[in-house]
Amino acid sequence: MTKSTVRILFIGDVVGDVGLKAVVDNLPILQQQYSVDCTIVNGENIWNGKGLSEADAKTLFSLGVDCITTGNHIWENWKSKPLLASNLPVLRPLNYPSGNTGKGFCTVTTKSGYTIGVLQLQGRIYMPPIDCPFKAADFAVPKLRQLTKVVIVDLHAEATAEKVAFGHYLDGSVSAILGTHTHVQTADDQILPKGTGYITDVGMTGPYDSVLGLKTDIALQRMLLQTAHKYESAETNPKVCGVFLVVDYETGKSISIERIMTPGLVRSVEEITN
Ligand SMILES: [Fe+2]
Ligand SMILES: [Fe+2]
Repeated sequence: MTKSTVRILFIGDVVGDVGLKAVVDNLPILQQQYSVDCTIVNGENIWNGKGLSEADAKTLFSLGVDCITTGNHIWENWKSKPLLASNLPVLRPLNYPSGNTGKGFCTVTTKSGYTIGVLQLQGRIYMPPIDCPFKAADFAVPKLRQLTKVVIVDLHAEATAEKVAFGHYLDGSVSAILGTHTHVQTADDQILPKGTGYITDVGMTGPYDSVLGLKTDIALQRMLLQTAHKYESAETNPKVCGVFLVVDYETGKSISIERIMTPGLVRSVEEITN
């Protein structure tokens, strides 16, 4: 017998081995602390910043992760493709042109017996010009809502305005719209007027002494020299970012949304001077 509310933890873009280790070290604590029923993780950047291996996915599933979402970087490692093509709950943005491998939405049944719909879409502003995410949502959301009222959307997008507009577009028809991709957690977690939980970006899970997970010196070379330099994930100052949602299982509306960043960004005087 399920409770009337379902407790959902969503972890933002996990970067590199350092990010994955931060998940391994912290996820069981967060799951226990928040009495989590369902865990969703964005894993597009685990494989040295680009893609996700079957072993990475296995590690996440062994931690009780119910669904893995990804994003634009999943296509940059060809070894990710068999994983996308498998029956495992690993998603890529639905609105890539048809013919690409993988799936953009699914339902998962949690250990505690809830059915949760998960949909992943990608924005188009400052991103590849793929199919319309709004029309893709029009297609997928009714299909998911036939199976469950609880639908979580990972909106993988760059532009804040596109994400905010999308939040209002789907307000009341999904449980939450959670932004990913920019790797910087935003302070606009809220319940929209018709009951949809919303945040523009959940934030990165990975090394924070970096430029969005990339080693700082390499990022600076790219910017100063305007040429390609090999991607290498940074290694220090790991943090876990996510949101915790409580959703009414009967109506699918969000009751609460809470940002998580552990540990926080502010350094102590001792850390700076030592
Ligand atoms: Fe990312
Ligand atoms: Fe991305």
